Amino acid sequence: MNNDVLLEVQNLKKYFPVKGVKGPGVQAVENVSLFIKKGETLGIVGESGCGKTTLGRTILRLYEPTAGRIIYNGKVIFDGGESIPKLDKESGEPIVDKNGAPVMTTSKKIAVDMKPYRRKMQIIFQDPSASLDPRMTVGEIVGEAIDIHNLASSKAQRDEMIKGLLNEVGLNSEHANRFPHEFSGGQQQRVGIARALAVKPEFIVCDEPISALDVSIQSQIVNMLEDMQNELGLTYMFIAHDLSVVRHISNRIGVMYLGSLVELGESYELNRNPIHPYTKTLLSAVPVPDPQVSRARQRIVLEGDIPSPMNPPTGCRFHTRCPYAKEICREQTPVFKEYEKDHWAACHLLEGN
Ligand SMILES: Nc1ncnc2c1ncn2[C@@H]1O[C@H](COP(=O)(O)OP(=O)(O)OP(=O)(O)O)[C@@H](O)[C@H]1O
Ligand code: SF4
Ligand SMILES: [Mg+2]
Repeated sequence: MNNDVLLEVQNLKKYFPVKGVKGPGVQAVENVSLFIKKGETLGIVGESGCGKTTLGRTILRLYEPTAGRIIYNGKVIFDGGESIPKLDKESGEPIVDKNGAPVMTTSKKIAVDMKPYRRKMQIIFQDPSASLDPRMTVGEIVGEAIDIHNLASSKAQRDEMIKGLLNEVGLNSEHANRFPHEFSGGQQQRVGIARALAVKPEFIVCDEPISALDVSIQSQIVNMLEDMQNELGLTYMFIAHDLSVVRHISNRIGVMYLGSLVELGESYELNRNPIHPYTKTLLSAVPVPDPQVSRARQRIVLEGDIPSPMNPPTGCRFHTRCPYAKEICREQTPVFKEYEKDHWAACHLLEGN
């Protein structure tokens, strides 16, 4: 991987064991591989329960991964020690044998102390009210982040920093003495953003930062996050339910279905030319302002419910709902591959099967 990449995830899995039930439990994140370049926004979309939050939290190691690898700024911060494809040192591409099969290697188990990374990798939570301690004032909430990482050398400097952060997110210094319940949802989310920014992070997982907010203030928060990205050179993973929210702010977009990443590509390209059947379905539901285009676009409605991640379908996890499913889809898991430049997907159709 080149120096432009801030974060790389390889074959990441997160399973939640279920008491009294044999087997792996809830397979919330299954074999996700992606990278995020420095200064870019990677959007992650998918239906409720498809594993977006779990992916974000596992990347930050707020949840310990079940398997896979996480590399942050060139340093491996987690390695489950599984057998993985051997990569060419120069190109970063998997090495294949004479039959075209990937050459495998077993990596060393690694789980670094996250303390130095906690500062660099932050999260803005999905539900602003639940993520703020109701017994703490806003000043204490933001100040706590400063204290954990010893970022202020005096009380005066600490107060100054809190004031500066509140101003930065569009609040004022008087707000420091108030409690979270005294704020609107949008203001609470601003407090959550100030808390994340307090430690001068490089990377922020924005977990549906606007979905709990009134439509009228959603764009204010998005604009603020974009301005901060430009000003501070931040890298974002921006999680959302639907494509219409992420497509304007993301450089690239990853689409998840039942724990797996099914497609990943440049935002414009993915919207213009989706190659996975599930992405096509998602896009068909996005309203189009042009009535002619809207009429021409056929809305695809999926049959059936999302299966349980405790007992996911064999082969392609989407096969129980995919209009194009064939025998092979039930039997073999499609490989997540780069089909066009910077455009990845996992589907047997693309293999000509
Ligand atoms: N701590 C946990 N213990 C057990 N199961 C969990 C836990 N957290 C999430 N899950 C399960 O993992 C799956 C993925 O959940 P997750 O919260 O990551 O989805 P999501 O895509 O963020 O959904 P939403 O859009 O509703 O926020 C779900 O089936 C959920 O019930
Ligand atoms: S692999 Fe098969 S079931 Fe899965 S998306 Fe492609 S066609 Fe549909
Ligand atoms: Mg979520």
